[in-house]
Formats: sequence, C-alpha cells, structure tokens
Amino acid sequence: VKINMVIGSPIEQSLSPLIHNAGIRALNLENLFTYWAVKVEESQLESFFNSVKKLPVRGISVTLPHKISVLKYLNNIDEDAQKIGAVNTIVIDNQQLFGHNTDWIGIYNPLKNKNISAGKSVLILGAGGASRSAVYAAYKLGLNITVTNRTIEKVSQLRDICEISSIKLLDLKNIDDYDIIINTTPLGMYPNTELSPLENYTFNKEQIVFDCVYNPLETKLLRNAKEHSAQIIYGIDMFIEQALEQFYLYTGHRASYELFKSTLQEKL
Ligand code: ATR
Repeated sequence: VKINMVIGSPIEQSLSPLIHNAGIRALNLENLFTYWAVKVEESQLESFFNSVKKLPVRGISVTLPHKISVLKYLNNIDEDAQKIGAVNTIVIDNQQLFGHNTDWIGIYNPLKNKNISAGKSVLILGAGGASRSAVYAAYKLGLNITVTNRTIEKVSQLRDICEISSIKLLDLKNIDDYDIIINTTPLGMYPNTELSPLENYTFNKEQIVFDCVYNPLETKLLRNAKEHSAQIIYGIDMFIEQALEQFYLYTGHRASYELFKSTLQEKL
C-alpha cells in the first residue's frame, strides 16, 4: 500500500483525509492507497523529507503554513507552482520529489465551467497567498485583472505573475465594472461570519462572485450577491477541484466531483 498524506500544523481540522479516502474506497483502491493527516512543524520539515523518501509514500498534500517552505526540499517544481511561488502538492517518484500547485486549478475550473471568455474583467480581493493562485487562474483564463487590498503596496508583489491593475480598497466606489469578483481574504470566515469584504456594495445579475472561504459554506458575501441575483461560486468548489486534481496526480484515477461534494456536505 502506498501512503498519501496531508502535512501541516495544525492538521486536525483538515478535511483532505475524509475526501481522499472516500475516493480511494469508491474506486476500490484500498489495496493500493491510503491517506493520512500528519502534523509536521516547520522545524521538522527537513527530517520529515529525509524519512519520507525511505517510506512507501506517493503523494503529499501541503497545507498551512508550509506551502512556501517546502520548496527547498523538492527535486523538481512544475511551471505553474514556480510562477505561483508555492506548492500544495508533492508527488514522489523514484525517491524524487516533484512539486505541483493545484490551488489555482481550484479557481480556474469553476470559472471555466461558467464559460467565461477571455477579455472579461475580474476584481480580486486580497493580495496574500490565495490571491497568487487567483491571479494565476485569471491570467490563464485571459482575464483583465484588478487586485484590491487593504495594504495596497502588497499588490506589486503579484506583478511577477502577469500584468495587473490595482485599486485601494477604500477607493473602490462601486464594483459594477467587474464581470467577476473573487474574494481571497479571510473576511466572513468562521467564527466571524457576520463580516463581508464588500459591505454596502450592490451586485448585478451579470456578475459572478466567487468566495474562496468555505466555512461557512455560504458566506455573507455570497448571500448578498445572491440577493442581487448575481451568479455565485462557493469556496467548497475550489477545495473540491484542487483535491480532485491531487487525487489524480497521486493515484492516476479520477475521483468524482459529486462524491467529494456529498462527502463534504455530510461533514460541514
Ligand atoms: P492567504 O495565504 O490565505 O491568502 P494571507 O497571505 O494572510 O492569507 O492573506 C490574507 C489577505 O487578506 C491579505 O491580502 C490581507 O490584507 P493585508 O495584505 O492588508 O494584510 C487580507 N486581509 C486579512 N484580514 C483582513 C481584514 N480584516 N480586512 C481587509 N483585508 C484583510
């Protein structure tokens, strides 16, 4: 049996073992794969990677706070992960560690499913780690990208990915000009569910609003967008799509979106 796992700290709350193991069961791969959650602290990363190469480990999902610090232990990093500057997926082959990033696919696929055409405009809220994946997904879709952030200076760090415009959060008077809005800030996340990154803004029915926050499933931002008849994309979709891609990289099999979704819905 090959071991797949998610590493991070804290790790108890991770939902990755739940869905990856559901996929393994559904595809009758229990004799070939299992999926664990392993708590690894920053100071343990080096010894972790030394031992992991000697064990029958195939895939490692990387979560907070290690998505950048794992880079230096890898033998190879694919182009997407290099551009984003972070790895959330490691595949081990012949004791070689290959770094990938599937977070951006979690943003790319749900937008692609809405048949968005190149040249549409997107407003991305936030300029941290998740924002880098959103900018990269938007770049791959050929969108016109604007990023707004509390700390406007941070936006310039995203310009190594592609061309983007920026606007200070306070200067954002209305959001009518944007076809798509993606929230990558934690505003609205449990336990602060009464917050929204766009208080007092109105949406329209042509817009698509995507919230990367998935706890709660429906954030205040998405609730407001829905009230104005905008189309919405739930954060849980991003989590599912990035995990489906990881599952494929680890096992060579495609798990079903519906299975991952229903498994998560039972839990959340
Ligand atoms: P992640 O890796 O999940 O993206 P992060 O790197 O900490 O997390 O980035 C969080 C983003 O949310 C940042 O852009 C942050 O704004 P700053 O750059 O000004 O710190 C934004 N953010 C977090 N809390 C916020 C708040 N209360 N109001 C507005 N923006 C906030």
